[in-house]
Amino acid sequence: MSKVVVSPAESFSLKISKIAPDKSISHRSVMFSMLSKGVSEIENFLRAEDTMNSLEIVKNIGAKVEDDGKIIKISSNGIQEPFEILDCGNSGTGMRLFCGLLSSANGHFVLTGDKYLRRRPMKRVTAPLMSIGAKLDGRKNGDLAPLSIRGASLKAFDYESKIASAQVKSAMILAALRADGVCRYTEPELSRDHTERMLKGMGADIKVEGLTTTVAPLKGLLSPLKIRVPADPSSAFFFAVAAAIVPDSQIVLEGVTLNPTRIEAFKALERMGTDISYELTDDKYEPVGNITVKYAPLKGIVIEDKISWLIDELPALSIAMACAEGESIVKNAKELRVKESDRISTVVEGLHACGIEVDEYEDGYKIFGGELRKAKVASDGDHRIAMSFIVAGLKCGMEVSDLDCINTSFPNFFELLENITKVEFVK
Ligand code: S3P
Repeated sequence: MSKVVVSPAESFSLKISKIAPDKSISHRSVMFSMLSKGVSEIENFLRAEDTMNSLEIVKNIGAKVEDDGKIIKISSNGIQEPFEILDCGNSGTGMRLFCGLLSSANGHFVLTGDKYLRRRPMKRVTAPLMSIGAKLDGRKNGDLAPLSIRGASLKAFDYESKIASAQVKSAMILAALRADGVCRYTEPELSRDHTERMLKGMGADIKVEGLTTTVAPLKGLLSPLKIRVPADPSSAFFFAVAAAIVPDSQIVLEGVTLNPTRIEAFKALERMGTDISYELTDDKYEPVGNITVKYAPLKGIVIEDKISWLIDELPALSIAMACAEGESIVKNAKELRVKESDRISTVVEGLHACGIEVDEYEDGYKIFGGELRKAKVASDGDHRIAMSFIVAGLKCGMEVSDLDCINTSFPNFFELLENITKVEFVK
């Protein structure tokens, strides 16, 4: 599957219940199971490369896993020193959260990943962890994987982070659970809060006040997780954009987490003119429900705050911006440069190829809405870039190459897309 040619779509009306399960929650569910007594049960786990790598890693560090294809049951007797090198594949979330989990465990651990992950910055977790006593190292003075960890005793901390990153926050919360006293972590803007919600649901003593999370060390083991992973709003969003750019279309996206830190891109699309409604159907660790998206003409927008709430959706949102009337601006989004690709460059280059005028800034871009043209776009190994430009193809046709990365987060993406348009794979 090296290239795909997507045809322009006619108006459609669809309901989809099989959006890929949430990646962030799936990673966390297997990792947090290592902290509990008894059997954790995870239903609707994301069976994609990134999260299957995390599942493999927990097996390597001592989890007993039973999987009947529907529910994954995990029990553990504490974290064991692995025989294998732990391979996170393409996943920054996997690598950064495992750093937090393993930095206090007994033993020696080596974390590696694919060629894309091995060039992404890890100092954002290794530096704060080392400042509280963790023994971590890696290439470029601890910034690049492979990383090695020698479990150590960790000191209580009061850490103020300069970046709003759920990965850094989660790594530090995991470390805090085994530190020698109560810890405080403050971030500049609230980032996604699945870690806090899930660990609290398992009985951890975690308090969130404004931008500060206070974590008391564990007294024993936590209660097991019993979770049904909701659909991933970041994956659902590709189909929201599809309905937002194809005139007279509508889509119902079922069973998606409605966690406010995750659906800001839908709110941005609403501000651009799209008709969107939300129906709450469940609320255990997370609010979950259905999102209905109906086409309406789009107008330009400025995105400059709550960036971490829509960071993963900005590539897809930029396709809606390209189809909108007027200018759209994305600012304060420098973090895009250190995602699976440099997403400022990949978005700007891709849109240029499609005939859209775009100005590039260090921390974002300005898109002049216009007429998308069929083009050839390469994903640079980045799943969200690949899927964003495939969705752009619903407007004008598109050839997108370097597609294997889609399996990291959304293995049934094409199966769902085929309900909307003709999809042809070429060599
Ligand atoms: C994630 C946090 C975000 C996001 C990533 C998943 C998580 O990264 O971009 O896809 O599950 O914690 P940062 O924490 O680096 O912003």
